[in-house]
Parts: sequence; structure tokens; C-alpha cells
Amino acid sequence: MRRTATCGELRASDIGKDVCLEGWVRFSRDHGQLRFIDLADRYGITQVVYDPEDVPAGIDKDAIIAAMDTFSRESVILIQGKVRARVEGTAVESNPTGEIEVLITHAELLSKAKTPPFEIGDQKEGVLPDEDTRMKYRYLDLRRTEMIRTMEFRSKLVHLARVYLESQGFLEIETPMLGRSTPEGARDYIIPSRVHPGTFYALPQSPQQFKQMLMMGGMDRYYQVARCFRDEDSRKDRQPEFTQLDMEMSFVDSKDIQDMIEGMVCYIWKGLYGTDLQAPFPHIGYRDAMERFGSDKPDMRYGLEFTTLTDIVRDVPYKIFQTILGEGGIVAGLCVKKEFGEVGRNEVDRYIKYAKKCGLGGLTWMRCENGVLTSNITKYFTPEILENIRVALGAEEGDLCFLIAGPWKATYEGGGLLRKKIAEDLGMVPDDVFQFFWMDQCPMFEIDPVSGKYDAFHHPFVLPTGDLDDPNCGGACFDLCLNGNELGSGSERIHTYEMQCEVFRKLGLTDEQIEEKFGYFVEALSYGAPPHGGIAIGVDRLVAILLGKDTIREVIAFPKNKKAVSLLDGSPSVVDDEKLQELQIISMAGDFDIEDVEEFNPDE
Ligand code: AMO
Repeated sequence: MRRTATCGELRASDIGKDVCLEGWVRFSRDHGQLRFIDLADRYGITQVVYDPEDVPAGIDKDAIIAAMDTFSRESVILIQGKVRARVEGTAVESNPTGEIEVLITHAELLSKAKTPPFEIGDQKEGVLPDEDTRMKYRYLDLRRTEMIRTMEFRSKLVHLARVYLESQGFLEIETPMLGRSTPEGARDYIIPSRVHPGTFYALPQSPQQFKQMLMMGGMDRYYQVARCFRDEDSRKDRQPEFTQLDMEMSFVDSKDIQDMIEGMVCYIWKGLYGTDLQAPFPHIGYRDAMERFGSDKPDMRYGLEFTTLTDIVRDVPYKIFQTILGEGGIVAGLCVKKEFGEVGRNEVDRYIKYAKKCGLGGLTWMRCENGVLTSNITKYFTPEILENIRVALGAEEGDLCFLIAGPWKATYEGGGLLRKKIAEDLGMVPDDVFQFFWMDQCPMFEIDPVSGKYDAFHHPFVLPTGDLDDPNCGGACFDLCLNGNELGSGSERIHTYEMQCEVFRKLGLTDEQIEEKFGYFVEALSYGAPPHGGIAIGVDRLVAILLGKDTIREVIAFPKNKKAVSLLDGSPSVVDDEKLQELQIISMAGDFDIEDVEEFNPDE
């Protein structure tokens, strides 16, 4: 007989039934004659017991004991027996199976376990082994209740998305894994072709061009739970291999796409939590986000906003500001209200050091004392200017003001990191609020201030909203953000051959390069392409944020570690010379040892 119930299934109503359970020996206890085992599987834990007093006549007790003697922790076993009530006073309320136990009448070892390198029980914080050990033995780590719940949550979330999108007429269509390089901004993982030595496929950084060609193919609404591959430095929210909920729609504008996503997110939310999520989501423009929060994915769950002070301080004889303003830079400030906690001189010095790490040239501070802003540099400011700064920043008695100055983008970005650090230090970030919003009104290009070179703000397929010759030309692109994270990116796309070529030219490609790199794609545009647009949402990020996990590695069954290494299967690995010869590739690896890989990409 194979299992008749899972280890999470039996209840008081099953008392008296003959059952067969299979699972892992999580804990075992000998109480003299009585032997208990906590038998575990994905669904729960059931106590099974050998009780010689109660074993029915005719059952070979010695055989049961002999089998149980072979059981070690984490061995897989089979138990047959009868469900009975636990002895009065020993029921465990926190366990759904806690009212019953199974009296063993037959026990069998299915697979013996070596002593595991760490305990699988429900560890309390701090008892978990280090991350590398968990990853090396991920199949053991996955047995932990926390990992099981995470995988269940992720599966449910993706299922809900599928149900919603199918109900809206989307077709799930797979796109190639072996293709040409896509310009998403990272390096490609490349795959050599044996049939055509010296040539390579690229693993997709995203299905961008294929999903657009599906629209040109008349598919109208596409989605895919798409694996994407990007050879970029690991971070808490980045993996070399990750999953997007990718979609594309024809005959739509930005609002249609956003409405669809809001509908989907609300549906997922309701399915996961049973409550209604507030929609429509608010919008914030790119410049506004940068200038108020120092980020294009601002965490707006707390205040601590920047105020631009450029005009107020334009005439102060403070040399650093004068130089910066002379070069077209900005000055901005934020006010740390006293009620969030006293920030003493030592902390101020630490923030000054931190600001430098964030790429800021320096950090100016002033404290509001006796109604005026004071610090070692206020002598360069007239009382009127100081008062204007105080009013602009809303500083009151005891409040601390930080001023940042420098080129627009780098300064706001550095300021944004500082803002986040201060907010975290002062406990200003509420962890029970989920704030979805759209970041939009983006530029089409980012222009290097030194070389004047144009780069796509999102990617080269975004529909421009203005004149391409205007350096401030906008792009019809947007991000879905949640609590200071970019969850997804989307846009309306270019749908004519001429416009696509024009944008490529702006990005510095010659007509020959356009033909060589994107010839097939622009040609597809020339056979009648519908106006279309779409978005891709990072599934790993969404799951990690909703579950309050620190890194997306926690929500991926088999992630790579911080060094882009899989400690479980030892990849990347050296390939036999024979295989390389077949591909006409010369090995450069020498004596490669995965443990020697330099830590090139720490999370912070
Ligand atoms: P983008 O490059 O912004 O857009 O990616 C969309 C979303 O994918 C997630 N993401 C990642 N998650 C984990 N690890 C990574 N290395 C990683 N890189 C990106 C993020 C991000 O917001 N083709 C476009 C989308 C479109 O225009 O439709 C694209 O891929 O959550």
C-alpha cells in the first residue's frame, strides 16, 4: 500500500482509520518502550508512535523495532498504522494534525539519510546555516517550512496571473532561448554553435523583439512566464537568470497597458490575501521622483523629501556651491525632523562619510537652533538666505538639514541613497505598507554630458513622444514600482520602419550597423506593424517584496550565489577539451577552481 494521506492531512475525524504515510524522519524520541517520530512532508508533520502495549495481536513487533532501528534523521520511511487520539494533555494546538497520532503496525525504510549538514526543523532566526551551505544543499534547505511556503506562494502568484491574463484573451506563447543578442543593457550569455563553428547564439536578456514580432504576427495579446539571462553583477535584487511575467498588446496606449496590469495585480492580491488593493495606482514623473526622492523608483512610504535650493543659494559666496552652480549643477536639501530621533555630531560625521560612498562630493549640514540655521559654514550665508533655506526645508527648532550639491543626476541619486539610509536608521520605513505606483514622463534618451553620446533611457524600441532632435525628447515608457523597488518596465513601442531606424541612428548606429544587428527586426516593421506596447514584471522581485525577503535568492528554488556560482551543481564548470574542440573553442581556463572565483559583486 502506498500513502493514503499526506503528513498534514489527518484530523480527529480520522481516528480509527487504517492509513499509510510516507515522509521524512524530522525528529524522533524514545520514551522507554514508546518511540515517537515526527514524520514530515510538504504538507505538514504527523506524529507516529510505536506503542508495544497497543500493537494488535498478530503483528510482528520485532520487525517494527528492527526497521525503526535503521531510521536516521531525514531518512525517508513508510509507516502503516491506525489513527488514534493523542493521550490527554499532549495535543499540540499549533499543529493541525496535533490532536492525533498514528499507531505503527508496519514500518519500512525507503531511503536512508546521512547525517544532514544542518538541522531541517523550523529554525529560529540566527540558527540557519550560512547562505552558501544552504545553497550547496538546497534540496535540504527546500524541506524547511519557510521555503515550502515561499514556493507555494510563488506558484500561486504565477497561477493567478495566468488565470487573469487568459481571461483577458492573452495567449501564452514561448519565444526562443537560442537567439540573437537583445539590447537590454547587460552582457549576454553566449552559446557556441557546433554546426556553425565560430558563431554563437545569445540567451535572451528578455523576449523583447520576439514579443513585438508576435504583435506583427497578429497575435494581439501575448504573455509568457519568461526566463531571462543577463551577465551582470549580482545584487540582492538581481540574478544572472531570472523570471519575467512578460506581456505585449496590440492597438493600445500606455494607459491601456497600465489598466491591464492594475487589474492583474489587484486580482493576484485578492487571490493571495483576500482583500482589495487600491487602484488606480498613483503616478509620479521621472524628474519629480528624482528631485523629491533622489530615485527613479522612490520609496514614498515615508517623507524625507528633497527640496531644490539652487535658486535660493545662487548668490552665496560659498566656493563649493559657486563652482557647482557655475557648471550647471544643483543644490538641494532635506530636513530630518527632530521627532524621528536625535542625530548627534558623530552620526552626522558618519553620514558625511556615507555620502562620499554614495558618490556625493560632500555633505553640508545645518541645525536649526534658536530659530536659525547654524553650522560651521553658515558664515558664508546671509541671514536672509539662511532663513529662506530654513523655510524651504520646513526646518524647526532642533531639526537637522542636509544639503547636497553637484551634477543633477549623480547628486540626486547619491542623495537618494543617503535618504534611504537615514530613514532606515531612524526607523521611518513602515514594513506593513505596500505602495504600488507608476513612474512615468521619462526621457527618451540619456545623453552623456562629456561625450554627448545618446543612450536609450529604457531601450531603443520605446515610442518617442516628441521631436527626436530635441535632446529633452520624451519616451512613452514607464516603470511599475513598489516600496522603493522597480518591479517592472513597460512602454508603447515604435511601430514603423522609418521611426525605428531614426532612433537607432540617434543612438549612434550607422545604416550598415542597423542592417547587421537589427535588419530582420526593422524589416518586420516594414510589413505592417500594429501600434503596440507591453511590459515585463520581475516575478522574483515581486515575490520577494511581498514576502518581506531581503534578497530574491530566497524566492528562487535554485539560485546562483553572490559570485554567480551554483554551489549545488558546481556551475559554471570547465568543459572537456574534446567538447571544446568540437566547437572550435580554445580553453583559456587553466586549472579552474570554483572556490577561487573572486568576490566581484557583493550585494552592497
Ligand atoms: P527591464 O530590463 O526593465 O525591461 O526588466 C523588467 C523587469 O525584470 C526584472 N529584472 C530582474 N530581476 C532579477 N534579476 C535581474 N538581473 C533582473 N533584471 C531585470 C525587474 C525589471 O523591472 N523588455 C523590457 C520590458 C518591456 O519593455 O516590455 C525589459 O526587460 O523587475
